[in-house]
Amino acid sequence: MTATVIDGKAFAAKVRGLVQAQVASLIEVQGITPGLAVVLVGEDPASQVYVRNKHASTIEVGMASFEHRLAADTSEADLLALIHRLNADAKVHGILVQLPLPGHLNSELIINTIDPAKDVDGFHISNVGLLGTGQKSMVPCTPLGCLMMLRDHHGSLSGLSAVVVGRSNIVGKPMAQLLLGDSCTVTIAHSRTKDLAAVCRGADILVAAVGRPEMITGDFVKPGATVIDVGINRIERDGKAKLVGDVHYASAAAVAGAITPVPGGVGPMTIACLLANTLTACCRANGLPEPVGLTA
Ligand code: GUN
Repeated sequence: MTATVIDGKAFAAKVRGLVQAQVASLIEVQGITPGLAVVLVGEDPASQVYVRNKHASTIEVGMASFEHRLAADTSEADLLALIHRLNADAKVHGILVQLPLPGHLNSELIINTIDPAKDVDGFHISNVGLLGTGQKSMVPCTPLGCLMMLRDHHGSLSGLSAVVVGRSNIVGKPMAQLLLGDSCTVTIAHSRTKDLAAVCRGADILVAAVGRPEMITGDFVKPGATVIDVGINRIERDGKAKLVGDVHYASAAAVAGAITPVPGGVGPMTIACLLANTLTACCRANGLPEPVGLTA
């Protein structure tokens, strides 16, 4: 079998198009411009690239972008004061503090200081609890993007067996909750799972989010399964820098029914879902209906 390639780049463009259309109508009909504030502390090169891309995408869909770049030695009190100001600012509907933060800052405290209604990352403990109990929440962007791609490919996910490999708070755990919400039978596996390959072979939907380059090979995949690769690993091969996922693409694609590539799979969906969440937050803040096709 040769798997269908799920084109995350094209799908993300479609999601951004949906966001852009609904932003235009919000501006025209309600006179409201959704706004996203991104806070970057320090000069981590990867974070700088992410923040630049987030800014450009925000502007592209017609939203307001507020960038706050702070020195690496910014005090916790100053950062908390900024978050309180953004919480109180009616022009700001979404707040994202780029992680990782420098070591002297308490990430949990800072994330939990963001107004949960503006927490477009879905990392605030209130949103984690709401998602875990099946209530309306802000949903972390990467798992939301995976869910959208899975729904688009399968239609209904009800009754399917899903295995999520990875138990992080950012991807693995919320991904499992979302799949459960769509009535999948869900297993969370991880690096210590006994006979991981056999567990994975039970999956109609296999989500790899372990952070280990090409760990999930073809023998982990049930014939015809859908494989979602969340991994982004920079490796060197034959003296060249290369980006690979957590899935060994060639061997998995030979067995799977559908698969996301790296790059061009899940990656582009993360920013698209950040924009979707910002629009959702703006609609909720103004008592307007939820945006169409952009929520969990
Ligand atoms: N750093 C890497 N990915 C993310 C993300 O999704 N959100 C935030 N806030 N920081 C990140």
